[in-house]
Amino acid sequence: MATTAGAGSGTAATLQEQAKRHLWMHFTRMGAYADSDVPIIVRGEGVYVWDEHGKRYFDGLSALFCSNLGHGRADIAQAGADQAKELDFYSTWSYAHPRAIELAARVASKTPGDLNRVFFTSGGGEAVESALKLARQYHKLTGNPNKTKVIAREVAYHGTPMGALSATGITPMRVPFEPLTPGGCHVPNTNVYRLPEGMPVSALAESVRERILFEGPETVSAVIMEPVQNAGGTFTPPDGYFQRIREICDEFDVLMISDEVICSWGRLGHWFGAQRYDYLPDIITTAKGITGAIAPMGAMIASDRVAEPFMHGTETFLHGFTFAGHPVAAAIALATIDAYEEEQILEHVLENEHVLREMLESLRDIPIVGDVRGAGYFQSIELVKDRDTKASFDDDEAETLLRGFLSGELFGRGLICRADDRGDPVIQLSPPLISGPQHFEEIEGVLRPVLEEASRRLRLG
Ligand SMILES: Cc1ncc(COP(=O)(O)O)c(C=O)c1O
Repeated sequence: MATTAGAGSGTAATLQEQAKRHLWMHFTRMGAYADSDVPIIVRGEGVYVWDEHGKRYFDGLSALFCSNLGHGRADIAQAGADQAKELDFYSTWSYAHPRAIELAARVASKTPGDLNRVFFTSGGGEAVESALKLARQYHKLTGNPNKTKVIAREVAYHGTPMGALSATGITPMRVPFEPLTPGGCHVPNTNVYRLPEGMPVSALAESVRERILFEGPETVSAVIMEPVQNAGGTFTPPDGYFQRIREICDEFDVLMISDEVICSWGRLGHWFGAQRYDYLPDIITTAKGITGAIAPMGAMIASDRVAEPFMHGTETFLHGFTFAGHPVAAAIALATIDAYEEEQILEHVLENEHVLREMLESLRDIPIVGDVRGAGYFQSIELVKDRDTKASFDDDEAETLLRGFLSGELFGRGLICRADDRGDPVIQLSPPLISGPQHFEEIEGVLRPVLEEASRRLRLG
């Protein structure tokens, strides 16, 4: 095997060399690093992380919506170390172990309604995959073998496994892997900023009903939606939207999956996003914040009604992952949930979300800022060429703006956030849930001059 010299020595130069030669970064244009450095994050504490040169960054994205309690929680890591000494690993295939049992009960105590049955996974994509498979097998067991299709929303991201990818509604992520798992159908998302003129907001939920009728209700297994859709820039639901989706699902015996890989564990100021918007799904998928990202873990949580057919005789949900419910991750998740409670993290988010929002709203005087939207500590700014017409950027302009200027400039000034163009160009912010007003000022201190400069470069305003 070819390795670069000095393997394992860990100096900044060898890390760069080895990263460029051996590490395959996810969703990353590796070619971009032929003549520039790979950003290497070496340490984290609280809301900050440091790179290998000692430069500090505000983690305005919570390490991909994960590090809800911030970084460097040695107390929580200790719970994992203690668990590894007691029982390093046993799987949840045919066996149980105390931490998985305790965590399942703890998670169930936080969910809405009768979502009481917890199936662990190693991450979010596996949780979505599990939910889609559970929905199919549930319908087969309950006498509806043709119910296989899933309805999701345009531009939504539900993960990369082939089943989850068929629900993901981002065309460039789907095309390289076609043909996809059959059955993925898409309806408009809740981007009310760009609602076609004359279309009532109520049409958004009705589009799900229309699509079910178009496909044939006897072929539709599930609807999957995030409480607040991340991709495209934190699309919140209009009033009554999820209540109507629930009615539609009930009308046609379609399972409602709330994909809360991001929107649970306090991100929206509640344990689960469904609680913020007051709806009761049949299945919730979660991951990321369940362990504060100190260990990888996810879960699919099913209602008693959906789990019931699997709880008798020889019936089995024929699905699993070796590491799901890993004792170390489960111990860390239990300690993380303790911290959410003891440190009143959800209350803190609800008390301070308006400060974050007001700071972002105050940027509306900058010509490139078209819209500000989101909920809790999960917010976005949509960038536009013309605020009056809401004209957006073409692909080349978005490339020049996002990759050629904004991403690098924000990072260079010490703010990690996401400049994203999976829909129209947006800047996404999802700070650690421990952050507060002084941190929001810090974010503004970077965002304002960078957005003003972007406006100048584009000769806006
Ligand atoms: C809503 C949603 N679902 C699923 C996933 C996939 O999760 P993972 O990357 O842990 O597989 C993500 C990841 O960001 C997500 O945001």
